[in-house]
Amino acid sequence: MRKKVSIIGAGQTGASTAQRIVERGYADVVLTDVVEGLAEGKALDLQESAPILGFDSRVIGVTTTTDGKGYEATAGSDLVIITSGVPRKPGMSRDDLLSINQQVITTVVKAVVAQSPNCIIIVLTNPVDAMTQLAYHVSGFPSRRVVGQAGILDTARYRTFLALELGVSPRDVEAYVLGGHGDTMVPLPDHTTVGGRPLRALLPPNRIEEIIERTRRGGEEIVRYLKTGSAFYAPSAALAEMADAILLDQKRILPCCAYVEGQYGIQGLYVGVPVKLGAGGVEEIIEFALAPDELAALRRSADAVRALVQAMKLS
Ligand code: 2OP
Repeated sequence: MRKKVSIIGAGQTGASTAQRIVERGYADVVLTDVVEGLAEGKALDLQESAPILGFDSRVIGVTTTTDGKGYEATAGSDLVIITSGVPRKPGMSRDDLLSINQQVITTVVKAVVAQSPNCIIIVLTNPVDAMTQLAYHVSGFPSRRVVGQAGILDTARYRTFLALELGVSPRDVEAYVLGGHGDTMVPLPDHTTVGGRPLRALLPPNRIEEIIERTRRGGEEIVRYLKTGSAFYAPSAALAEMADAILLDQKRILPCCAYVEGQYGIQGLYVGVPVKLGAGGVEEIIEFALAPDELAALRRSADAVRALVQAMKLS
């Protein structure tokens, strides 16, 4: 029997994620949106691509209400990916979305949990670290079953820029970006290798710093071009990679927004760290041996996330 994935939000990222997952063929997908007919239309269009592309997965779309009704079709999902909420516009930071998306995520998570009490939840909605903490709080799930997507995307941007700079395949750039998904994110040049060679042997420090800065502003760069929305191809690819890891029990080591309980000296907070991702969700938080300045940067980033979490006044 195929797995069942529900994707909440049929905007650019939700619909692209649905496409990536149904085309893999191992899961049926339920796509939802509060905009009347949007999910139904995109799901039907996707379904009609099956004879051409040759997948057997079913995909259906449903309209839900803003007060959390209409989620019956999502019942019994193995995995629920939450992309709903408001994206930022040029000039806005991800943090500007906190209060509006807090309301959206609270409603969505309650509705999701009522239908799929045993699912794993992946959160994409920004500001993602705070929204993942909120989803954990509202769901009552064990922390291993609630995880946020950010680090795979940030790392993909960093790997892309390095690969373009060095003229190599991005697949051969091995790297991790940790910390919160924002200006304080923590790329780790000392843990970056290119075809097995340390990055620092291949690029001068100032060029590495410029690439790190472009990575930190990677989301903003796309928002500036698009004007009416944010990135979705790379975010949906990151979500699909996480879905593979969980539903195919791949036990991948990936940078994800996960609940940290003492590792890296951070307590009781969702923030970007390397994790082992498999059928159990976040099966392990991996502790890298970080240099003192890297560790300090990670803790500073965690402090910025904690300030947002406190602003939500979760009780
Ligand atoms: C980004 O960095 C949407 O936050 C996402 O593009």
